Amino acid sequence: MKRMLSGIKPTGQLTLGNYIGALRNFVNYQDEYEMIVFIANLHCITNYQDPPALRKNLKDAIALYLACGLDPEKATIFLQTDVHEHAELGYIMACMTYLGELNRMTQFKDKVAKGETNLSAGMYTYPCLMAADILLYNPDYVPVGDDQKQHVELTRDLAHRFNNLYSETFKMPEPLVAKVGARIMSLDDPSKKMSKSDRGDKGCIYLLDDPKTARKKIMSAVTDSVGIIQLDQKNQPGLYNLIEIASALSNRDMEDIVKEFKGKGYGELKKYVADVVCAELERIQSRYYEIINSDTIEKVIADGAIKAQRIAYKTLSKVKRKVGLEIR
Ligand code: TYM
Repeated sequence: MKRMLSGIKPTGQLTLGNYIGALRNFVNYQDEYEMIVFIANLHCITNYQDPPALRKNLKDAIALYLACGLDPEKATIFLQTDVHEHAELGYIMACMTYLGELNRMTQFKDKVAKGETNLSAGMYTYPCLMAADILLYNPDYVPVGDDQKQHVELTRDLAHRFNNLYSETFKMPEPLVAKVGARIMSLDDPSKKMSKSDRGDKGCIYLLDDPKTARKKIMSAVTDSVGIIQLDQKNQPGLYNLIEIASALSNRDMEDIVKEFKGKGYGELKKYVADVVCAELERIQSRYYEIINSDTIEKVIADGAIKAQRIAYKTLSKVKRKVGLEIR
């Protein structure tokens, strides 16, 4: 069985973008692949997080993994810090990464371009830790949204470099980016990715948004003045984004949705998108409220950490031996 690995960094509540671009795919793939998914909590603290809020977001994220349909019998689910090998291999990867490579990372460049000051060293070297997260498990595939593809490509470069320097050790992981829904855009500014760090909350739907709030956000999503329902991503990015959201969640082709709404108003289409999104949120949230009030979460991540560490320990031991860090 081929292996798949991925993670989410819950610096805030998980979003509909996380769900469509990543989480939903983890669930779809768990029957076909050996699935390893973790909560990237070390990645959360590259900037300051209020500790109680962080704890709540981590717990919510695990509950949401389960509520969305990840089955701990099939998938290994764990918290990154429960497997200390991540931090250790992360350091070794940082020693193998050139500054030029980190300077070319789009996420870093965007932050610099926005004039963000006070960027931490952890934020800068974060792609090295991400490479370690992946390579510890030698997965065949890494399912991610479009914005993480560059980090998986750097991981491949580092794997290749390590294999060349020290002999064959790592498998080349393939990024797996879905055709539909790999980049869900903000509802109030469709030129930007839907993200937890959106200013204000209007552009972002959270998986724990009350459905009424989510509906309001969709009904007031920014569209255009063209007034025709069609697929024109360049000139009607807001409309395209709404159709893409509905298509991903209903497993219908985007063209099929356009056909149904041809000649109708944007309001009618938005109502359909809101119906599809709210039905999905209600399904996820009813499971979430059962899980968050039970003791399932602790058990799932304790079991997951044991399974994950068995693999991670072996890889790290091999790496340390090859690099010459051990005297035996
Ligand atoms: P993060 O937490 O920003 O996002 C988690 C996953 O959700 C996807 N995603 C989106 N997909 C579509 N539309 C959007 N608007 C959207 N927003 C987010 C992301 O592409 C990602 O797949 N560095 C990673 C976490 C990580 C990781 C890893 C992932 C750490 N180590 C190892 C894979 C393998 C991150 O910050 O993702």
